[in-house]
Amino acid sequence: MTDSWDTIADWYAELLRSGSAMHDFARDILLDRLPELLAGQRVLDLGCGEGIIARATAAREALVLGIDPSTRMIEHARDAERNQPSGASFSVDDGCTLVTVTTGSVDWVTAGLSLNNVPDLDAALSAAHRVLVPGGFLVFTIPHPCFEAPHAAWAETEDGTVRRVVGDYLTEGFWRSRNPEGARRAGNQHRKLSTYLAALMRNGFGIEAVEEPTPDARVVAAQPQRAGLPPFMLLHARRA
Ligand SMILES: C[S@@+](CC[C@H](N)C(=O)[O-])C[C@H]1O[C@@H](n2cnc3c(N)ncnc32)[C@H](O)[C@@H]1O
Repeated sequence: MTDSWDTIADWYAELLRSGSAMHDFARDILLDRLPELLAGQRVLDLGCGEGIIARATAAREALVLGIDPSTRMIEHARDAERNQPSGASFSVDDGCTLVTVTTGSVDWVTAGLSLNNVPDLDAALSAAHRVLVPGGFLVFTIPHPCFEAPHAAWAETEDGTVRRVVGDYLTEGFWRSRNPEGARRAGNQHRKLSTYLAALMRNGFGIEAVEEPTPDARVVAAQPQRAGLPPFMLLHARRA
């Protein structure tokens, strides 16, 4: 069977619920860009998965809608919400169209590790632009495109240190990891960093911040080889 986000949704939800240092870190670097209190702010979480970011923003008193095209992910998000209500709601939708979201209806769009999954980045950014109010913000994380390029791997060097080996950075497009324990076995759209920046500008966003956060102690404890590299990139953009 070929994996998809739907077929790995149970595995992904369990991974996050049992505590994944990488995903907790990815959530926290995104939350760090948001105000501590979001009372009354309307947040759309694009590609919400099982709801890790939607629940955290709802806990800051935002009015949160999480959308994801995977019906199984949305079932997990709703289950988690039923078990421990945060106030977030969830619906099945495609980030490239956002047909369930009214034009000019949100103050923030968050997207944690999801824009690297949409097949059409321009369509997703155009949809995010449409649903945001003028001056609203888009904050998103992606696996760092330079170090998480297709088939990047760890290799031991002559002095015994483990280094990241990267090729194919310039080859954009869909690829699938061969790692049966990795989320990207469901597939992933590789894009150059310049592609993300150019697409933001082309779709009416001004760039407020670009970050390459240093892996925190949780990540380094779980994966010591990651100590010297940023696993994720964060972009904070403002809708014109
Ligand atoms: C790595 S998961 C991230 C989920 C969640 N944001 C998190 O931080 O755990 C990637 C998510 O992107 C979603 N995705 C794939 N294609 C998408 C699309 N066209 N629009 C929106 N989300 C999409 C997947 O279904 C999956 O839930």
